[in-house]
Amino acid sequence: MSQRQWIAVDEYFTGALIDIDDALHAALAASDAAGLPAIAVSPTQGKLLNLLATMTNARRILEVGTLAGYSTIWLARALPPDGRLITLESEPRHAEVARANIAKAGLADLVDVRVGAALDTLPLLARELDSGRAEPFDLVFIDADKEHNADYFAAAVRLTRPGGVIIVDNVVRGGAVLDARSDNSAIQGTRRCIEAISTEPSVTATAIQTVGAKGYDGFAIAIVAPAHSAGSAGLSTPG
Ligand code: SAH
Ligand code: DHB
Ligand code: MG
Repeated sequence: MSQRQWIAVDEYFTGALIDIDDALHAALAASDAAGLPAIAVSPTQGKLLNLLATMTNARRILEVGTLAGYSTIWLARALPPDGRLITLESEPRHAEVARANIAKAGLADLVDVRVGAALDTLPLLARELDSGRAEPFDLVFIDADKEHNADYFAAAVRLTRPGGVIIVDNVVRGGAVLDARSDNSAIQGTRRCIEAISTEPSVTATAIQTVGAKGYDGFAIAIVAPAHSAGSAGLSTPG
């Protein structure tokens, strides 16, 4: 088993199951042309995000980490016409490329790209929610700097409706997540995030390892307790 084989299998599934249309191709081409890093979700992962948003009937989606808007497009395509996706990006240059890609995909009316460090922009969303100017999110995709993932997760819990879904990308990193003594801040941030998930009483979660075009990595997926079952046995955290 090798990276070459993982890529070949991903290409097989992508060719068979996934329609990568002009807007998605153009988004990656524009990302490359602008010199942005090639770290967007793969087509099979993007489609998974799209399916998860569809399965949960997501009307409001939050993304932390936009890059060129490739995952944004996959997610926003699951929204109904009156849906909304807010995506947070610290780099103005990335946001600019993303806005153009999102517009080319015909999704400009559904997507709001907000520029700023997520640690600064997430509290603004909480204020909008508290003041009744916004509704909670049905689905949150966390995929920015991994250092702050525990904070992003805590903010996501606060911003997500009961029964809503929180997905965290890149929680395996070739298995490096096992290294409790890692001097890599991304690994430490991921481990703090897993700890935060495990100790957050209002969520129940799992993590799934993946191989494919993006190497050996994985997602954590959590649901916020439905209003009627908070504190029930099914949602208790392991001791
Ligand atoms: N979700 C994208 C990939 C995101 S890459 C996709 O799959 O298509 C991570 C992005 O997070 C980068 O664009 C980076 O600039 C952004 N980022 C890094 N630190 C951030 C921060 N503190 N706040 C918001 N965005 C940040
Ligand atoms: C990196 C970031 C990501 O979000 C990802 O999916 C893959 C790689 C990175 O920073 O290297
Ligand atoms: Mg990622």
